[in-house]
Amino acid sequence: QLINRIPVPQESLASEPLPATDPVTVLFGSKSGNSKKIAKNLHDKLIARGFTAVLQDMNQYQGAKLKEEKWLFVVVSTHGEGDPPPAAEDLHSFVHNRKAPLMKETQYAVLALGDRSYASYCKTGKDFDARFNALQATRLIDCMEADVDYEETADAWTEAVLSRLQDKFGAGAPKPAATNGHAAVVNGTVAKPAVAYTRKNPFKATVLEKIQLNGRGSAKETYHVELSLEGSGLSYQPGDTVGIWVENEPTLVNGLLSYRKWDPHTIIIRKDTPVAVGDFLLKNAELTTVSGSFLNAYLPYISDPADAHALKGILTDKQELSAYVFGKDIWDVLQQFPAQISVEDFCQIVLPLQPRLYSIASSFKAHPDEVHLTVGRVQYQHRTRLHRGVASNFVSDFLEVGSEVPVFIETNESFRLPENGSTHVIMVGPGTGIAPFRAFVEERAEEGSGGKNWLFFGDQHFTTDFLYQTEWQRFIKQGNLQKMNTAFSRDTRQKVYVQHRMQQHSSELYRWLEEGAHFYVCGDAKRMAKDVKQSLINIVQQEGGKDEAAAAEYVKQLVKTGRYQEDTY
Ligand code: 2AM
Repeated sequence: QLINRIPVPQESLASEPLPATDPVTVLFGSKSGNSKKIAKNLHDKLIARGFTAVLQDMNQYQGAKLKEEKWLFVVVSTHGEGDPPPAAEDLHSFVHNRKAPLMKETQYAVLALGDRSYASYCKTGKDFDARFNALQATRLIDCMEADVDYEETADAWTEAVLSRLQDKFGAGAPKPAATNGHAAVVNGTVAKPAVAYTRKNPFKATVLEKIQLNGRGSAKETYHVELSLEGSGLSYQPGDTVGIWVENEPTLVNGLLSYRKWDPHTIIIRKDTPVAVGDFLLKNAELTTVSGSFLNAYLPYISDPADAHALKGILTDKQELSAYVFGKDIWDVLQQFPAQISVEDFCQIVLPLQPRLYSIASSFKAHPDEVHLTVGRVQYQHRTRLHRGVASNFVSDFLEVGSEVPVFIETNESFRLPENGSTHVIMVGPGTGIAPFRAFVEERAEEGSGGKNWLFFGDQHFTTDFLYQTEWQRFIKQGNLQKMNTAFSRDTRQKVYVQHRMQQHSSELYRWLEEGAHFYVCGDAKRMAKDVKQSLINIVQQEGGKDEAAAAEYVKQLVKTGRYQEDTY
């Protein structure tokens, strides 16, 4: 909402008033109070210049508000080995959630405080900066890093922020005082060279290889796909994700069109360009997932007031909403809540089709100019119709060697191998959760890291579902994988899962942790990752002779210190 207030510039009475602006939020995450001091100083200056500014402690800030911010300036410190201050913990994990809302409306800058004597210098601020960027916020100023003697840098940052806002809002507004050398980072002119290929401008990667990893008779269908990045200039780190742009299935689009008796040849105007409805729904509409914002937009069109009432009820309760949308697609909603809606309006309210992200299964060092994916086909019966995941089915059915697919890389700094190659790593990746660990082990093999690698893998059957079995055998033989434990859940009468294998090796696992090992989990977020974490707590309790609270605290510390990392979906 626009604040209709005419700011009164105080530093130069001769200048023209600034135009009405959205509020500027200054957010700080402080422990010793330095960040707060800097933030408050900026806030005071903004007020003095007539901006509507709000000073906020991260501790009292709701992450969900981020997407509404227009102007956001963050000052945050880092403690110990890369820890956020306790006040910033919740917001830090909020923005690192894969499902964190996009911040397309936000323009921001971050000042990171830290202590250069630590390896993870200014990590928290850099994390926020990178995540805001990944969430599609616009960076106004490159993240600035301030050491323990932070004053000079803090002043330069404050001046840079004021100057940027000034540039945006008031040609005639008061000019800030001249800045010192630090301000050279402003304006993005000294920024890193622009990455040519991005989410919005993806690279057309050619399929080099596509292999079904499951044996005949398996209930699963998992593909190993190798894509060429040659000529793109793209590269990545183990732990990063690759985004792919896909299309909906013609069967789904045609089914939906004929269910509603909509004509696929109807022309609509999109971004000033005429396009046929059939084509639009195929390429641009999010049809296989249902979101609250779609339901909200659809609500006014619902014909029966009782239906509308029911949907309203669902929309007011977060838990009910997530239970409702689970497993449903847009067609289900149209069936359940008949509506008087034209195809033009439907195309207007349906959300834009999003790219799908996959954990990268290869090391760039081991496979220069290639990126590998492990894709499991998602399909399930929901009521009378087979529902199929948009990306996994596109990959399974439409990609073949030689075909092209638009891709981009998304970095994921929160899933990273230890910087020190001699640190041990423990990896838990059942099903397609195995993907990033193939990248990890390949990378550590390439680098000749001295640290030991321990992999837990699980799937349904040994004979048909042991993904990358021969590769693991080779790594073990070559001394790049020191331990591997598998849990094939449907080969025995009693199910065995990866966490049961962890439990069976609890004393050694705890010893590795005590020796500084990093612990990684990838795969199902709903149950597996939670169960694995709980069993790690049990192991620490049992092997460390702790009570449950102390064991939980031990694991919490692992999380805080970046030694317990998850990539779950
Ligand atoms: P299931 O399908 O036999 O139940 C990869 O999908 C593997 O993860 C499968 O063996 C699957 O077993 C198993 N799995 C299912 N739920 C799990 C859980 N809560 N924790 C660990 N593994 C699980």
